Amino acid sequence: MKSPLFSGIQPTGTIHIGNYCGAIRNWVRLLDTYDGIFCIVDYHALTVAHDVSTTRQRVVDAARVNIAAGLDPEKCVLFVQSRVPEHTELAWILNTVTPMGDLSRMTQFKEKSKQHEDNINAGLFSYPVLQAADILLYKAGAVPVGEDQIQHIELTREVARKFNARFGEVFPEPAHLVPKEGARILGLDGKAKMSKSLGNYVGLLESPEETWKKLAPAVTDENRKRRSDPGNPEICNLYSLHRNFSDDETIATVDRECRVAGIGCVDCKKMLHRSLSATLEPIRERASALEATPGKVEEILDHGAKQAKARAERTMEEVRRAIGVR
Ligand code: TRP
Repeated sequence: MKSPLFSGIQPTGTIHIGNYCGAIRNWVRLLDTYDGIFCIVDYHALTVAHDVSTTRQRVVDAARVNIAAGLDPEKCVLFVQSRVPEHTELAWILNTVTPMGDLSRMTQFKEKSKQHEDNINAGLFSYPVLQAADILLYKAGAVPVGEDQIQHIELTREVARKFNARFGEVFPEPAHLVPKEGARILGLDGKAKMSKSLGNYVGLLESPEETWKKLAPAVTDENRKRRSDPGNPEICNLYSLHRNFSDDETIATVDRECRVAGIGCVDCKKMLHRSLSATLEPIRERASALEATPGKVEEILDHGAKQAKARAERTMEEVRRAIGVR
C-alpha cells in the first residue's frame, strides 16, 4: 500500500505558473509513489478578511483549476476542509498539547499580524494547529510544501510528539518535501517571487494572447541592452522559465545562442511562449470542459469528502479513545 501524502490548497481561483511549478506539478508526479490527499483549506482562509458572497465560488474555482492541472480525482482524493468537521475537532484537541510559545514564534503569524493589524484573531494564532490537524488526521508521512511552510511542518512534528508522549503512540511524524526545481519562480519583473498580489504572474488559464502580452515586456538579462550584446542565461529569468517549461533541446539552444547573441530576447520569448502554450493548452481545455459540465466539480468534491471523512473518522475514534473521552 502507498503511504499517505497530504497538502493544503488555499481557496483561490487565480493560480499562476509559479504555483504550478512549485506545487501542483510536483504533487502530480508524487502520485506514482504516494496516496495523495489534497484539501482546499477554506477554514484556514477564514483567519483573514473573508468575502462571504464569493467564498463558495472561489472554492469551486480552486478545485477546478487544480483538477485541470493534474489532480485527477481518479488518482487522488480532493476535498474541501469544512466538509470534514473532524479537522476542527482534532485541531481543538491538538490545541491542548501545543505550546503558546511555539505558536508565537511562527514567521507566518508574525507577518500576517503585521499585514492585518486590525484583525489579529485567535484563529490566526492557532492556524498552524489546524494545519497540524489536517496532516495528522490522515497520518500523512509526507507533506509537499514550499519553503515558507517548513516551519509549520516542524511544528506539526512537535505536536505529534507531544500528543504521543501524553496519550500514547497515535501519530507518525510527517516529513516535508520541498521541490528542488520550480520552488522559487520569479515574476515577470525578474525581481520578486511570482505572486498574485504583485501582478507579475502568468495565470494558468490565460489564453496564448494574454500570455504573450505579459511575456513580451518581461525583464531579461539587464546587461543585454542591444540585440548584438551577448547575454547570460544564468542571470536571466526567462531562461529559468525555459528550464521549467521547455524541452531539453530548446533549453540547450537558448543557452548556447543567447551567449553568442545568436538569438535576441524576442526570439527567446517566442520560444518560451511556444513551450508555455504546450503545457498550458491541455490544462485550459480540461478546465473549460469542467466548466461546461455544471455540477461536475461539486460532484468530485462530494465524492472526495466522503473518502476523506471515512478515513478521518477512523483516526478520530482512535484519538477519542486515546484521550479517554470514549
Ligand atoms: N498553510 C498552507 C499555506 O499557506 C496551506 C495548508 C493548510 C497546508 N493546511 C495544510 C499545507 C496542510 C500543507 C499541509 O500554503
